[in-house]
Amino acid sequence: MAHPRAIIMAAGKGTRLKSQLPKVLHPLMGKPLLQRVLETLPLINIEEACIIVGHQADQVKDSLVNFQLPFSYTTALQDPQLGTGHAVQQVHLQCPQWQNFSGTALILSGDVPLMRAETLSHLLKQHAQQNNALTVLAATCSDPTGYGRIVCGNSSPDNPKQSAVKKIIEHKDATPQEQAITLVNTGIYAVNWALISPLLMQLSNHNKQAEFYLTDVVALAVNANLSVGMAHLDDATEMLGVNARSDLAQCHSVLNQRTLKQLMVNGVSIPYPQLTVISPEVSIGPDSTVLPGCLLEGDITIGNDCTIGPNTIMNGTVRAGDNVKVIQSVIRDTIIGSHVSIGPFAQLRDQVTLADTVHIGNFVEIKQSSIDSHTNVAHLAYVGNATLGNTVNIGAGTITANYDPIRDIKSETQIGNGAKIGSNTVLVAPVSVASEASVAAGSVITKDVSEGSLAIARGRQTEIEGWVKKTKAQATEQVKT
Ligand code: UD1
Ligand code: CA
Repeated sequence: MAHPRAIIMAAGKGTRLKSQLPKVLHPLMGKPLLQRVLETLPLINIEEACIIVGHQADQVKDSLVNFQLPFSYTTALQDPQLGTGHAVQQVHLQCPQWQNFSGTALILSGDVPLMRAETLSHLLKQHAQQNNALTVLAATCSDPTGYGRIVCGNSSPDNPKQSAVKKIIEHKDATPQEQAITLVNTGIYAVNWALISPLLMQLSNHNKQAEFYLTDVVALAVNANLSVGMAHLDDATEMLGVNARSDLAQCHSVLNQRTLKQLMVNGVSIPYPQLTVISPEVSIGPDSTVLPGCLLEGDITIGNDCTIGPNTIMNGTVRAGDNVKVIQSVIRDTIIGSHVSIGPFAQLRDQVTLADTVHIGNFVEIKQSSIDSHTNVAHLAYVGNATLGNTVNIGAGTITANYDPIRDIKSETQIGNGAKIGSNTVLVAPVSVASEASVAAGSVITKDVSEGSLAIARGRQTEIEGWVKKTKAQATEQVKT
């Protein structure tokens, strides 16, 4: 028996989104809808897929490369886009490697992003067990508006409890009686490709939308005496399709709730789930807490006993060890050790590494820098393109002047172990301060400082004795004359 393959319809324009961006590339918690759909496929052992592209096909194809999919795929071009049936016809017409394929094809929509791998497995299992030519994934929906309705006929004589699928009727073509049906088409099917693909060529577009509907294949298969069945989806939130911006918002809410629920099961405290957004890629260890106002989206791993938030944004690739505290901060592409505290109001970005027991305080920006253990950057500082050793103290107001706007280059600052940088120092890069050296407050350091030395680079303080009294007396004299 050949391995199941997948067909993903991703050629539609998504007119109702009113967007320049093709519908299937709209992000859902940081990843395009199509990527979310495709990423479930390896979980159900799909090794080969055909993705149907059409509207802005080049843009969609380019993003497929970025998804780094762990299975082989081809694309078929649907141009013009004449409906979902016409989309799947392209696989039959254009893909030689599908010509003699005799296994199961799982047909999915690129705009239905919340389907779980377990659900797709269930569909494939039912399809195999019922030995069907076509099995549609059906759901019961309290508000079926917009979805295709599954019309069932009388029960089959040998299985009176099971009503047989007769056809699928699209919302726009349905009679009022049919519109009252709450059993809907999720747009996902398992088909015996050898039996169903020839029927695709018999589809017509005599309907309200003048489109070739894939859903009409159901009636064609029934008429050809092929066995058509359904698998039922229990959690109707999985079938949400994105047609309008409001659907996209609903998908965000469902995916977020699903993610937060799982994190809480894993031992993470999320006291205000309505005010917390975490994407499904994020992993957080037990006894950690995520406080309200957090948006954690991306390849993020956080250890145990951490407190994140309130009001913290993390994205890109972030790793944090155990016992990390982050308050009201923005963190992107950063590796954080254990026992680190950050914020409030800090920004860490673009390849920052913090070792254990580092403290980054308020109004501090760290960019593309590495900071060794027990080092403090506690207040009002900018550290960019710098390497800081261990047990360094960076005084308030310190700036690494890393940018030369004339040559448009960034230069490095090195600060050795145990060095102390006084408040309001400017370190003009490229420059280094060796270990155990001290820099006096208010210095502008343009030359390297050697180990254990004190560098002072500012005007020397002088004093004019009695200056205030003398100046006031002069002023009074001037008023009189
Ligand atoms: C479709 C189903 C409907 C089902 C619903 C579930 C049909 C006719 N209707 O309706 O029964 O309840 O999904 O979400 O299939 N696409 C193409 N080429 C095209 C048209 C569409 O590739 O010519 C792609 C779209 O990019 C999209 C998917 O097919 O990913 C579904 O198309 P859409 O127009 O959104 O169908 P629905 O009206 O939602
Ligand atoms: Ca749709």
